[in-house]
Amino acid sequence: MDSAHVENDLVNVLFTEAQIQERIGELAARIEHDYEGQDLLIVGVLRGAVMVMADLARAFARHVEMDWMAVTSYGSGTKSSGVVRILKDLDTDISGRHVVIVDEIIDTGLTLSWLTSNLVSRNPASVEIATLLRKPEALQMPVDVKYVGWDIPNEFVVGYGLDYRERYRNLRDIGTLAPHVYS
Ligand code: PRP
Repeated sequence: MDSAHVENDLVNVLFTEAQIQERIGELAARIEHDYEGQDLLIVGVLRGAVMVMADLARAFARHVEMDWMAVTSYGSGTKSSGVVRILKDLDTDISGRHVVIVDEIIDTGLTLSWLTSNLVSRNPASVEIATLLRKPEALQMPVDVKYVGWDIPNEFVVGYGLDYRERYRNLRDIGTLAPHVYS
């Protein structure tokens, strides 16, 4: 789906498909350089990271293993609780492995902060984070992110894996959702 198909739902297009592909190519080149000669496992955080994982993995000119985790907020039921429950764990034993967690957005930082600690406790050789988007103004928990596509304002963005009520994930571009859609 292109942004033209949901034109009335978007305030603007933040990043086009072409811009996203270019930036992902740059991130892939950096990661490739940093892990040269080393085994690498990338871990996608379901469901939003599916697009980034698919494009990042294919941008590499090397072998890369892929695995997936699914997590959800726990306890109060709101994200701000900071407590996360694993819905789907890795199929891979990561002890001694170099791991890069891949996500499409870091908002409050709670998910990735928790996930990083969880993976570190499994004794990997290293754990780093790659995210396409980050909202510095929304950050509640410091997260050490090595690879960032773009820092963006604290606005409701959709597309390229990012949803509003499970819609817009399949939008090729990333856009700011118009308030009339969610208010
Ligand atoms: C998104 C995103 C991150 C998380 C970031 O997932 O994929 O995992 O939110 O938010 P945080 O920094 O505030 O923790 P979401 O919970 O929307 O699930 P989804 O990937 O299935 O859309």
